Amino acid sequence: MPVDLSGPLMSAFKKAKKEYEEAVKRGDMEVAKKKALECARILKQLSNYDEFNRESYLDKAKKWEALAKDIESGRFQKTRNKPMKEGSSRPENGKEEESEEEKFRAYVRNNLIAKSKVKWDDIGGLDEVKKLLMETVVIAALRRPESIQPWKGVLLFGPPGTGKTLLASAAAGSLNATFFNVKASNVLSKYFGESSKIISALYEVAREESPSIVFIDEADALTTKRSEEQSEASRRMLATLLTELDGFQDKKSDKLVLTLAATNTPWDLDEAVLSRFPRRIYVPLPDKKATKEIIRINTQGLDISKLDLDAIAEESVRRLYSGRDLKNLCQGAIWNMVREENPELHKLAELPFEELGKRSLRTRPLEMRDFEEAFKKIKSQLTRKDIERYEKWAEEFGG
Ligand SMILES: Nc1ncnc2c1ncn2[C@@H]1O[C@H](COP(=O)(O)OP(=O)(O)OP(=O)(O)O)[C@@H](O)[C@H]1O
Ligand SMILES: [Mg+2]
Repeated sequence: MPVDLSGPLMSAFKKAKKEYEEAVKRGDMEVAKKKALECARILKQLSNYDEFNRESYLDKAKKWEALAKDIESGRFQKTRNKPMKEGSSRPENGKEEESEEEKFRAYVRNNLIAKSKVKWDDIGGLDEVKKLLMETVVIAALRRPESIQPWKGVLLFGPPGTGKTLLASAAAGSLNATFFNVKASNVLSKYFGESSKIISALYEVAREESPSIVFIDEADALTTKRSEEQSEASRRMLATLLTELDGFQDKKSDKLVLTLAATNTPWDLDEAVLSRFPRRIYVPLPDKKATKEIIRINTQGLDISKLDLDAIAEESVRRLYSGRDLKNLCQGAIWNMVREENPELHKLAELPFEELGKRSLRTRPLEMRDFEEAFKKIKSQLTRKDIERYEKWAEEFGG
């Protein structure tokens, strides 16, 4: 067990952060940059001691590094000195307090921006959906007559695990757009009374960082249909969101801010929401061809020449597997192979980490029996009746 240094590291971080803030106040950007880098370094070390918050530490470290870069390029200064909106600025008297507006924008920048490396090729099937999203993204970037406008809002609906989040990430990844990943229910539960302010801040930052893709997951949480449960907070959040969506019909602006909303329960959405999303796209369970593609994507780097992919795909379709189920299926099969080839694997856990790095895992081509075993453990949550409900809604409201 390594010695836990998180306590002293945390104090070191607080100290560096304070020194950074003081340097900014003095306008000593050279020191500020140094301190920002120090903060990043300490956070990276901290990430080794807290596996649950590892990602979050690393994320924060990256932000400090980005900040240092901004300082170096002079961008930081520019954003700082930018005049604030009327009413939110305070007189310049030494101790400048962060305005409320800035607080929300900082929240958006620190928590809702996600990095996306997903590419279109990582998605199996869904050719029509991919095409539509690609077109939208391309139109937004091309020079064009004013009357031709890209879609501002696209609704993705379908059963869980069919690739809605993946599609949104691919759209952002391929365009190198800033990706805002917003779970409606999260914003509501964490920032209850202030969730509508977060939405305003979100779109403000999205415009600044355009091209942007704002992904609103679990859009049904915003609905007004389930009126008894509907809180005042979500009503206000929804109203703000709708205003923002309307506001974007500004023809002169060539900034792309595409809002993609996703839901598993489209029938819960009300008219107000639906009307802002004229494009509603059904993201169905994968068919046989798509299933084979998804299996290939999830077994990359392994030999699958011994598999009867047709048979696996047919069984998967019969069992109503989603893309997520298929991913789990492949992982299960891969694990079966790995365990069989490396029966003593768990014993290596006693070796020090550096020692492990010198050894490699034994593999062999995947076989049908690996999959047969894996099939037993994966059960789709869906019934035919569920699917029919999606299909019916798609027929009536989709398009
Ligand atoms: N069409 C697909 N191609 C490749 N992988 C897929 C596909 N669909 C799903 N997957 C796999 O399943 C995982 C979950 O997919 P994703 O998160 O996009 O589903 P979702 O539709 O957003 O589900 P939910 O409605 O539960 O949020 C993905 O990370 C990916 O590994
Ligand atoms: Mg999702």
